[in-house]
Amino acid sequence: MGFIDLHLHLDGAITVDIAKRLAKMQGITLPGANDDELRRELQVPPECTDLNEFLKCFALPCSLLQTKEALAEAVRLVLKDCEKQGVVYAEIRYAPQLHTEQGMSQEDAVLAALEGLKLATANGNDFDLSADGSGAGGPAVASDDKRIKANLILCLMRGEGNEAANEETLRLAKKYLVEDGGVVAIDIAGAEGLFSTKNYRDIFKKANEMGVPFTIHAGEADGAESVRDALDFGASRIGHGVRSNEDESVVDDIIRRNIPLEMCPTSNRQTHAVEDMSTYPLIDYLNKGVCVTVNTDDPAIEGTTIEKEFDYLEKEFGLTDEQRKKILENSVEAAFTTDEVKDELRDALGV
Ligand code: HPA
Ligand code: ZN
Repeated sequence: MGFIDLHLHLDGAITVDIAKRLAKMQGITLPGANDDELRRELQVPPECTDLNEFLKCFALPCSLLQTKEALAEAVRLVLKDCEKQGVVYAEIRYAPQLHTEQGMSQEDAVLAALEGLKLATANGNDFDLSADGSGAGGPAVASDDKRIKANLILCLMRGEGNEAANEETLRLAKKYLVEDGGVVAIDIAGAEGLFSTKNYRDIFKKANEMGVPFTIHAGEADGAESVRDALDFGASRIGHGVRSNEDESVVDDIIRRNIPLEMCPTSNRQTHAVEDMSTYPLIDYLNKGVCVTVNTDDPAIEGTTIEKEFDYLEKEFGLTDEQRKKILENSVEAAFTTDEVKDELRDALGV
């Protein structure tokens, strides 16, 4: 049995081992006297009450991802961890604008991540890393020790005063957009409760005009209205969408338009997107015919893995083998990749 992870933030996937490797590369001293103390620094505190609090956990991993070498190595190592855990296909997302603190441009940050992708995967394209604008090369040669396939999603950020940075991310997404083996879509991350989805209508209109596919974090820290806005903008998928059922007409629309939800149970519990997890709507959505997918969001911060997410659903909600299979089929269908790769994933997963 393998897995797919469609919602995985790079900076949320920096484990103790990866942090130590990145720190060593850069001569950075990490907090904590030992691994357990470092893990406590990297993981969400048990008293976390909301997404805003949760987002503070990204400061430390982000500080380790400010050079091209570190960013490429992080993408490579996160994908290696995914592969070890049985993931056959992953979409790694990150916000290039959060990696410019030490002189990298957003474009450097895109090229570095593409380099990491190429090193770790069977499908990563060769790109011209000289950043002289000459564009993409041919596909990398797959070798036996690179089984995982992966793509990148570039995140815009919710916030104030970063409009130009978001425009630049969109421009780069268009420039490096491929059908598979590189940048395949954009997203918007950050504090949904503070910066409403409706504020981003113009930039997603532009993404539509430019032919850049997108998913949007919505219905996590904000309600069904946020999901409604994301659907109106033309999102191909919704990040989380867990609160869609605050307005049943939104759920109906999601079903009618077959818009996949990238659900992340542990993340939703820790950010209190759903206060009472006994009411977690994942199985209900699945039974109603929503294209539900299961993902990790920020595995290192949450202390989870994709396998643990499925185990949790089985233990707490009685997820059946048939439902597990349906979720995997949904993930294949929802993936930002080619029909050819989707067929390969179905074969690899036996779905
Ligand atoms: N929501 C918004 N932004 C994020 C998240 C999330 O769950 N994880 C990492 N950045
Ligand atoms: Zn997320």
